[in-house]
Amino acid sequence: MIKNICCIGAGYVGGPTMAVIAQKCPHIKVTVVDLNEKRIAAWNDKDVNNIPIYEPGLSDVVAEARGRNLFFSTEVDKAIDEADMIFISVNTPTKTYGVGKGMAADLKYIELCARQIARVAKNDKIVVEKSTLPVRTAQAIKDILDHTGNGVNFQILSNPEFLAEGTAIEDLFAPDRVLIGGDTTTEGQKAIQALVDIYANWVPKDKILTTNVWSSELSKLTANAFLAQRVSSINAMSELCEKTGADVNEVARAIGMDSRIGPKFLKASVGFGGSCFQKDILNLVYIAKTYGLNEVADYWEQVIIMNDHQKRRFAKNIISTLYNTVSGKKIAFLGWAFKKDTNDTRESAAIYVADDLLSEQANIAVFDPKVEEKQVYFDLDYLETRKSEANKSGLVVVDNPYEACKNAHAIAVLTEWDEFATYDWQKIYDGMLKPAFVFDGRNLLNKAALEKIGFVYQAIGS
Ligand code: NAD
Ligand code: UGA
Repeated sequence: MIKNICCIGAGYVGGPTMAVIAQKCPHIKVTVVDLNEKRIAAWNDKDVNNIPIYEPGLSDVVAEARGRNLFFSTEVDKAIDEADMIFISVNTPTKTYGVGKGMAADLKYIELCARQIARVAKNDKIVVEKSTLPVRTAQAIKDILDHTGNGVNFQILSNPEFLAEGTAIEDLFAPDRVLIGGDTTTEGQKAIQALVDIYANWVPKDKILTTNVWSSELSKLTANAFLAQRVSSINAMSELCEKTGADVNEVARAIGMDSRIGPKFLKASVGFGGSCFQKDILNLVYIAKTYGLNEVADYWEQVIIMNDHQKRRFAKNIISTLYNTVSGKKIAFLGWAFKKDTNDTRESAAIYVADDLLSEQANIAVFDPKVEEKQVYFDLDYLETRKSEANKSGLVVVDNPYEACKNAHAIAVLTEWDEFATYDWQKIYDGMLKPAFVFDGRNLLNKAALEKIGFVYQAIGS
């Protein structure tokens, strides 16, 4: 029976997943380690409201388990040494150099973990891939462990994470399924069972699925590809709706009632963001290409092409609607996060829309209830479109939505935060230049109510 778990990587996945395992399994000691000292210090902050990741319900889980059987530490070697089971939950970003640049997953952090585990481990361990990885990565991890280790036995499991940000705790408490892939050998099956036993503390047995390692690794990429494809599909239809008088919300409802299609994940938007959809599809495209499967690669790449187009055309539409110039005009951004209920901004559509508008010399004022000013500038600077000073002079981050909208020519809704719908829109209208435009990239606001006040309101796909 597993008594001691170590998780390498205290990020959006490692933090919440381990907090929930610790809360649900008080008999298991769970230590989450990371090289990032600031992040670990924040996880250990006396005030649980200061933990580094905002997720509804997460601070309560951490408050209950931390110090009891949940620990956050920078002592990676010690935690590896003590653990029976080690989760690898480090980042696997798109490569920014060399072969596969801009497409393949960068596995250097994974390899570093494998080498560190091999060096430190003095007894048999189960190593669990929690990060999203290209199919057959387990083979590489096994090679490293077996060739550089101290002669101890390792079992590699694949246990991809399907949580979505903003609902991480809900998703972890009641997952649609838990997927565990492992070797078909007796030892492999024993390792699978050890992990099944952990989840079985709160997940019904029929929702715990076991497969071979390769199916498990590939299922994760497949799931994200299918989800992203649905968003790109409805977004493609949104553009056609705008040309034809159809309403994408009505179309989504009509097709979603077909039980074969289903109603979820059909919300047209300014484009999907987040750290994973794009990265994982690019990775899938790269894998397909390396096997010479060019049609497969092209098929999935189109999901990304459509998404880029959706972000671009949102910005273009703002410019053309504002009489073909936004130069010197103030545009208020409501939302910067890639979706509501998270402070994560990775690949958020807002970044790309802002970048396009800044290139047209717009003045942008951003309000997001959870995103910090320094993150907004970091995101823009990361694109390297212009100098950091130019980003700072073209864009301000404010902590009040009414201030963001004051004297603006237009408002762009980039994130679907619930609170945006509850604002005093008459007050906002009164403070704006006229005509007062709203570009709702999330179809969040009430069109009729806004038009009654006097706004010129444009949504996606209608
Ligand atoms: P993240 O960047 O938030 O966290 C990763 C952490 O790993 C960082 O804090 C980093 O400092 C640490 N790290 C990297 N190398 C290390 C090393 N050698 N030793 C110790 N610490 C190290 O990333 P994330 O969002 O948690 O994603 C992690 C993985 O999970 C990725 O593969 C991602 O695709 C996958 N995933 C993410 C989500 C999500 O919602 N974010 C959901 C499912 C799967
Ligand atoms: C997604 C998956 O939903 C998770 O199952 C997966 O574990 C995770 O990726 C991952 O591997 O990282 P996440 O990116 O956190 O989760 O959030 P989603 O709810 O999937 O939203 C992704 C993006 O698509 C957001 O920008 C969201 O606004 C957008 N979206 C989603 C739409 O535009 N329309 C929709 O109908 C749904």
